[in-house]
Amino acid sequence: MAKKKSNQIKWDYASAPESTGHIQLKDRYDLFIGGKWVKPSSGKYFDSINPANKKVIAKVAHANGSDVDKAVKAARKAYDEIWSRISPAERAKYIYRIARLMQERARELAVIESLDAGKVIRESRDVDVPLACNHFFYYAGWADKLEYAFPNRRVEPLGVAGQIIPWNFPLLMAAWKIAPALAAGNTIVLKPAETTSLTALKLAEIIKDSGLPDGVVNIVTGFGDTGAEIVNHKDINKIAFTGSTAVGKIIQKATAGTGKKLTLELGGKSANIIMDDAPLDQAVEGIINGIFFNQGHVCCAGSRLFVQENVADIVIEKLKHRMKSLIIGDPLDKNTDIGAINSKEQLDTINKYIKIGLKEGAEMYQTPCDLPKGGYYCAPTLFTGMSQSSVIVQEEIFGPVLTIQTFRTVDEVIQKANNTPYGLAAGVWTDKGSRIFNLTTKLKAGVIWANTYNKFDPTSPFGGYKESGYGREGGLHGLEAYVKLK
Ligand code: NAI
Ligand code: MG
Repeated sequence: MAKKKSNQIKWDYASAPESTGHIQLKDRYDLFIGGKWVKPSSGKYFDSINPANKKVIAKVAHANGSDVDKAVKAARKAYDEIWSRISPAERAKYIYRIARLMQERARELAVIESLDAGKVIRESRDVDVPLACNHFFYYAGWADKLEYAFPNRRVEPLGVAGQIIPWNFPLLMAAWKIAPALAAGNTIVLKPAETTSLTALKLAEIIKDSGLPDGVVNIVTGFGDTGAEIVNHKDINKIAFTGSTAVGKIIQKATAGTGKKLTLELGGKSANIIMDDAPLDQAVEGIINGIFFNQGHVCCAGSRLFVQENVADIVIEKLKHRMKSLIIGDPLDKNTDIGAINSKEQLDTINKYIKIGLKEGAEMYQTPCDLPKGGYYCAPTLFTGMSQSSVIVQEEIFGPVLTIQTFRTVDEVIQKANNTPYGLAAGVWTDKGSRIFNLTTKLKAGVIWANTYNKFDPTSPFGGYKESGYGREGGLHGLEAYVKLK
């Protein structure tokens, strides 16, 4: 008798024995529409790949316009018949339940995130997954307190929200989008990024287990064409997008005049500024974390370092020394500092920028190491000796590449730091409170950290100035994106 083929994939990750037993992955994922797994009408599936070894992890459905339409209809029905009618306290219970189920399955979520995205297990386990749970817990608390969030106003949900997310923090971005939308009483059609669909699909399983009414959250997978079908659908009331500034601009044009409410979280080229009185060892750790966290695939990465001239030599020396100790390797090994680049496309983009930097005459330093074979990897890289106008100083690279510039005066660094089309984040390192105050008031960025970097919390609003987008996510301000105020 022929053996029935198991649909469980066997993992060969000897380096993570504690985690492997808990993973349940199917070979193939359908669309999550109306609380059911639905085959894509085109019959087409695409591969989700582990960028650390280029192996296919699972096949994922490619949704087209008619699938998106089905998902929007399911979301509308759920909105009209259930979600807009049940009491806010009931809504809260479901959101709490999702948060608790995520916690119970935290290890599985972390391992799948690392497999699918190439990010190191230490970060998925200690940052991404706990923060994603916390977003659900935090917004569950707001669901029945909206009148306190917006005093003296009548608060109404928008209806059906279309949400499109990127590949750098797949589960966390899903949580940032879904939790406040649900708390405010909206229903959802969400599309994860094409290279990292799996944790959103696991979240769909969790949502089903939570008993959330069918159709309140729908997950459709696919590429930019699927995203565009969501953006252009007539019966969607709100679009929330996180991704590249280029696509953000397309979406802005497509939604203009349609009455759809829009929030955009786009790119960045954030300045990390070291003053000469800063605690230098701490600052160096902050620079390392600022640019190499998640392989530099971070919209608010501290990708432009500004060091005050009189401490520049020592800071650069300490930085190179610290870079030598970074371990580049298997994302599932808990000792790894730098995992795999998310995709071949992104590695090509990063390498293109490294070539441009060298061509522009900048000096490069890279962590001396043999890169792991068989996957998409990039050594931690820094550049010195560029001008303010060089391409690698101006454009978002979205990889482990840092540019270093020096400055003499505070006015000079403020001028240089603000000389970018972006305005997402910045970091300031100094011992003087007055300098922190001066710099943080004059830097044009939505989020500014002082003597720390890349710290996130669900209570704290996050978002950009200028071409980094508009609208805020997180905190009380994050609710505003999902309500009508009367
Ligand atoms: P992208 O902006 O194309 O992808 C983000 C999401 O938008 C994905 O889910 C994608 O399928 C979807 N999408 C693509 N085209 C669309 C369209 N026309 N309408 C609706 N949805 C659409 O980003 P990509 O190509 O993956 O990365 C390119 C560059 O963008 C990166 O090198 C990086 O610089 C930047 N980026 C910035 C992010 C951030 O958080 N700031 C996140 C991802 C990328
Ligand atoms: Mg993948």
